[in-house]
Amino acid sequence: MPHPDIPLPRLIAHRGLSAHAPENTLSAVRAAHAAGVTWVELDVQLLGDGTPVIWHDANIRRCSDGRGRLADLDLAAARRLDAGSWFGDAFLDERMATLGEMLALLDELEMGVNLELKVNRGRDPLALVEAALPPLMEALPPTRCLVSSFNDTALGLARALAGPETLALGVLFEAVGRDWRRHCEPVQAYSVHADWKRLKQARVREVVEAGYRLLCYTANDPAAFAPRWQWGVAAVISDDPARFAGHLPDA
Ligand code: G3P
Ligand code: MG
Repeated sequence: MPHPDIPLPRLIAHRGLSAHAPENTLSAVRAAHAAGVTWVELDVQLLGDGTPVIWHDANIRRCSDGRGRLADLDLAAARRLDAGSWFGDAFLDERMATLGEMLALLDELEMGVNLELKVNRGRDPLALVEAALPPLMEALPPTRCLVSSFNDTALGLARALAGPETLALGVLFEAVGRDWRRHCEPVQAYSVHADWKRLKQARVREVVEAGYRLLCYTANDPAAFAPRWQWGVAAVISDDPARFAGHLPDA
């Protein structure tokens, strides 16, 4: 199957360099770049006014000084939030990043992104895909984009918007069940993204032999992870990729 010829790195920073900066922020991406990481995983969803923003939770409580649902905010209200000091005083002025701001930074730093279409409960996958994909594809070349989701509907809509040669799609799984192909084939997926702790070697073999790249989230213990490289895992999504220095397979 034709896919963009992505020079996928072994290590991708989860939500930016989230071990060292507030997750999913511009600072987290700058920190990843400063650490020598070339790709980041980020979550995108919509504010109530339709603005795509880089945010993981349905709620704003954990990662800001506010309370309530992301879906109830407009951009002006989102801008007023402090999205940094929950992580540390050094990040006091951090604001929630819009997708547009984040894409401008990724372009400037020449980084790649695994953009997760985060469809939290009750949210509309169509609105998200229509708001997030065109600016992504406008900002970055296909060799520096990978769009992933747990949501099959979102992935199907993304595939309808762009063919496999112009947009790589990754199917996210918690456990990769025996029916994993049912999620990958209809969207002509490029990759399978799995929780490394629930992964079985036989399943990895099936996925790799079928021609999919296998990405594992969220691994932060390189010694515990080590055997999986031999299984054929392509890349690790980690909160702190630097921990894997000296623990990577050759080539
Ligand atoms: O894309 C890998 C990983 O980010 C999926 O889980 O909850 O961290 O978005 P989550
Ligand atoms: Mg994610």
